[in-house]
Amino acid sequence: PRIVVIDRDGEHHRLDWEPDQSLMEVLRDNGLPILASCGGTASCATCHVFLDPRVTAELGERCEDEQELLEETESFDTARSRLSCQVERSTALDGITVTLAPEE
Ligand code: FES
Repeated sequence: PRIVVIDRDGEHHRLDWEPDQSLMEVLRDNGLPILASCGGTASCATCHVFLDPRVTAELGERCEDEQELLEETESFDTARSRLSCQVERSTALDGITVTLAPEE
């Protein structure tokens, strides 16, 4: 899939999502400013992104760790927040727009 990422300055980046990458890895490997300090194990929340509410709904329930971490962030938005390291590639995500959450 290809995706559009909006960074914290409002700039748009068109990126390819390669097989075997999580959404966090797409962002990190393309030099976007996410720390991803836990390396993708749902324990740091620095890979927080906002997705379209319809996409979030389609992805289904967050796991317990993800839910708890997100709820602790200031910018948590129940309809739009995801930890990008917990979002796997799928064709259903082709063309989505991903917005980086503010740094905490
Ligand atoms: Fe740490 Fe996603 S990279 S929670």
